[in-house]
Amino acid sequence: MASQNIYILGIESSCDDTAASVIHNGKILSNIVASQKIHEQYGGVVPELASRAHQQNIVPVVDQALKIAGITKAELSAVAFTKGPGLMGSLLVGTSFAKSLAFGLKIPLIDVNHMQAHILAHFIEEEGFNTPPFPFLAMTISGGHTQIVKVKNHFDMEVIGQTIDDAVGEAFDKSGKTLGLGYPAGPKIDKLAKLGNPKAYPFTKPRVDGLNFSFSGFKTAVLYFIQKQVKLNPNFIEENLNDICASIQYTIIGILTDKLKLAVKQTGITHIAIGGGVSANTGIRQALKEGEAKHGWTTYVPKFEFTTDNAAMIAIVGYLKFLEGNFATQNVMANSRLKL
Ligand code: KG4
Ligand code: ZN
Repeated sequence: MASQNIYILGIESSCDDTAASVIHNGKILSNIVASQKIHEQYGGVVPELASRAHQQNIVPVVDQALKIAGITKAELSAVAFTKGPGLMGSLLVGTSFAKSLAFGLKIPLIDVNHMQAHILAHFIEEEGFNTPPFPFLAMTISGGHTQIVKVKNHFDMEVIGQTIDDAVGEAFDKSGKTLGLGYPAGPKIDKLAKLGNPKAYPFTKPRVDGLNFSFSGFKTAVLYFIQKQVKLNPNFIEENLNDICASIQYTIIGILTDKLKLAVKQTGITHIAIGGGVSANTGIRQALKEGEAKHGWTTYVPKFEFTTDNAAMIAIVGYLKFLEGNFATQNVMANSRLKL
């Protein structure tokens, strides 16, 4: 099958990035993302503005993906798109576009689960990056997601832990907002944390049973702590910013690694793959390396451009589903709460 020339166009529009990618038999030829800057001034994604920006971006983004891949629409074997989960208005733009394009070109349409795509991004053929063997544990951590998934096969996955409130990226972003760091604050906290003492301010980790996570109490604890300290010393944040960031990051990483350790213990699986924007974090990468040495884990982190929201991960799922002849009909609908 791989000797055939299969070209899949992947389209991702679940949140605030309009993205398109072309994959040729497992190898990415182009991966275009138009990030929507408009949300920065609001400190978070505004759904209605996101849908409008997707409408403006989708045609040029798809055009560019085809151009960089060096192919024409007529050469496409199928169109894959994100069906969900995500923001309904945003999903509708990608879904309608993909349906019309596949219909016009008379080629198969493939619906993709965004959460599955974050995990299957590990199967993109990329030099220097290994593919995890089945079964493995996948931890998807971003501004919208926090999940631990037992992956038995490409399309046989079981969520064994997830957040009951905020996502881990929100814990970074909302704590950062309290510190006046702007949005998104995750990368800034990461940078400043390198210069601080992670044990300067011991924040308590939330107690959540099993493999589930909770981050909303942590965010509030940071807010109350800062408010209290600023009352005592108005310059508290400026004078201690590095230590505060290091302590926040240390606590969040501790929450994630505690659950990973438990997941490994419960399942006996030691291959761990991470994905999502937060996997760029230096602290989590270091913790995974330590887990390799201390607990015998083998860890997998995809190329950065395949960890944040992107269309290459949609294209790889499209390719894998194409090989199985697993297509959608024109009646397929976006589903903002699609489950794994
Ligand atoms: O996957 P992503 O680009 O978008 C979605 O949320 O789906 O992830 C963005 C999130 C934001 O919350 C951002 O603050 C966080 O990932 N992030 C980081 C780092 N880089 C991005 N958090 C901590 N450390 C980083 N280096
Ligand atoms: Zn995502």
